[in-house]
Amino acid sequence: MFRRRVMDSRWAVIVLLRCCALMASSSAAADDESFSRYDFPPGFVFGSATSAYQVEGAADEDGRTPSIWDTFAHAGYVHGATGDVACDGYHKYKEDVQLMVETGLDAYRFSISWSRLIPYGRGPVNPKGLQYYNNLINELLKHGIQPHVTLYNFDLPQDLEDEYGGWVSRKIVKDFTAYAEVCFREFGDRVQYWATINEPNVFAIGGYDQGIAPPMRCSPPFGFRNCSNGNSTSEPYLAVHNILLSHASAAKLYRKNFQTKQQGFIGINVYTFGTLPLTNATEDVVAAKRSNDFLLGWVVDPLVFGDYPQIMKKNVGARLPKFTPLQSKEVKGSADFIGLIHYTSIYIKDKSSSLNMEPRDFNLDMAVEFSGWDISGSSEVPLMPWGLAQVLEMFKQDYRNPPVFIYENGARTPRNATLHDTGRVKYIHAYMGAMLDAVRNGSNTRGYFTWSFLDVFELLDGYGSSFGHYYVDLDDPDLRRYPKYSAHWYSKFLRGESVGPNGDIKMMSKHNLLDSHRARAVQ
Ligand SMILES: *[C@@H]1O[C@H](CO)[C@@H](O)[C@H](O)[C@H]1NC(C)=O
Ligand SMILES: *[C@@H]1O[C@H](CO)[C@@H](O)[C@H](O)[C@H]1NC(C)=O
Ligand SMILES: *[C@@H]1O[C@H](CO)[C@@H](O)[C@H](O)[C@H]1NC(C)=O
Ligand SMILES: *[C@@H]1O[C@H](CO)[C@@H](O)[C@H](O)[C@H]1NC(C)=O
Ligand SMILES: *[C@@H]1O[C@H](CO)[C@@H](O)[C@H](O)[C@H]1NC(C)=O
Repeated sequence: MFRRRVMDSRWAVIVLLRCCALMASSSAAADDESFSRYDFPPGFVFGSATSAYQVEGAADEDGRTPSIWDTFAHAGYVHGATGDVACDGYHKYKEDVQLMVETGLDAYRFSISWSRLIPYGRGPVNPKGLQYYNNLINELLKHGIQPHVTLYNFDLPQDLEDEYGGWVSRKIVKDFTAYAEVCFREFGDRVQYWATINEPNVFAIGGYDQGIAPPMRCSPPFGFRNCSNGNSTSEPYLAVHNILLSHASAAKLYRKNFQTKQQGFIGINVYTFGTLPLTNATEDVVAAKRSNDFLLGWVVDPLVFGDYPQIMKKNVGARLPKFTPLQSKEVKGSADFIGLIHYTSIYIKDKSSSLNMEPRDFNLDMAVEFSGWDISGSSEVPLMPWGLAQVLEMFKQDYRNPPVFIYENGARTPRNATLHDTGRVKYIHAYMGAMLDAVRNGSNTRGYFTWSFLDVFELLDGYGSSFGHYYVDLDDPDLRRYPKYSAHWYSKFLRGESVGPNGDIKMMSKHNLLDSHRARAVQ
């Protein structure tokens, strides 16, 4: 039902979220080329990712307080599912690190739950939360797995939302910086890669324009739900502005007090699409460029050039906050690297007529229509690995080629359809191949992380779909994990063997047995 509403919409932030990176159709395999990790530059990092609320569980254990995503899930907006238990990663982290070792990951990307480390968002550090993240980091390092930490993955402490409206208030800058400081101070001797905030572009549209994601703020006629508070025309811009200022503030602090000693790097993660004009008509070509400025330039232009794209200033007008000269200086260059979240591509059609409408939200300001792509979530979409290559070329050519990590890429399947996720392997192979081409053409990509390591709680889909290399059996009180075909495939790649897109992996007999057992059980 959730998905239907979104389908009916003008366009959906859903498209911005990972739930739409669907399985590839089997005919769409991009090529048959095999490659190995030795085709990538030395030091190129391969890993896999999860996030705190999606994997940890233990939601009200050991002093953790609710985040806005807890509230959202408990209100029933995720098909009744919650992250209360999720994969129980809070208790099973050792077992999970062992699986990472068996898989052969170089690195693991996870996020810290702000309200576990600092309950209520501000004030004293929770010793149990501190201990958990210390344990996890130490366990990773003990096995030679590099931690890549995201500080904020959509899970604002509910108390800060209640107190002053979270990201729409300038007060967030101070609280976020204080939280970041605790992380740098406590974990920075062992963590070298910090991403401050995940996907501000998606988060702002879902949470403050369309109201489909927490904190569910919006205003008529734009929200998909009845919104009692918010302002779809201005708050998304305000939220991203405060996010950029928060990022810059944390980065400034890191550079001043920690970076020299800890030798780490600080970045921010942005959601990316490949975009193609629907036709070769000039207005569609211009519209495709404009969509990049709105969807990506909104976040990345300030980081690289110190200001929003010109076309945004023009179309959004006074609703787009302005950087003071000092803010502009602090935001510009505040990211040592950019984390890219990439799943899919979209066709763009001009809709300049929407600029005649009042009031306008982000979508009407962008003045394009998304087209040529089924987001129903039920049918398959073709692989579009060219989209990732395009994004990487864009960073190289338009954004001065900063170091980038692909922090999420992967394919969705129904949660417990089969362990033989050959479609996921085709997808990952095709996208890794596109990345390899881009790297060979000069892209400054430094690493690649699949989403997700385990079948986690998906933020908008709960336990209905999955992206994991490991199936987590929710019917088993012990939540046992089972490797899927893609875990074996990725493992083979990580161990240096050459891999293609097809079935050239024999699952070990034990796993074959398990697999047919599971397959029977879930049909
Ligand atoms: C939204 O509000 C209208 C009018 O109050 C009501 O009829 C409708 O059921 C509400 N819809 C939802 C999804 O709450
Ligand atoms: C939303 O914000 C804009 C710009 O500040 C303002 O003009 C408009 O009246 C607000 N709309 C609502 C519904 O509050
Ligand atoms: C646009 O032009 C290019 C190059 O001439 C061509 O390859 C492509 O098929 C055209 N696309 C459309 C949608 O007509
Ligand atoms: C490779 O890089 C060059 C120089 O930046 C660029 O002009 C060209 O379009 C790139 N090739 C591809 C296939 O993206
Ligand atoms: C399949 O997944 C659902 C959650 O979406 C779960 O309730 C169900 O028990 C699972 N079935 C099997 C056989 O694993």
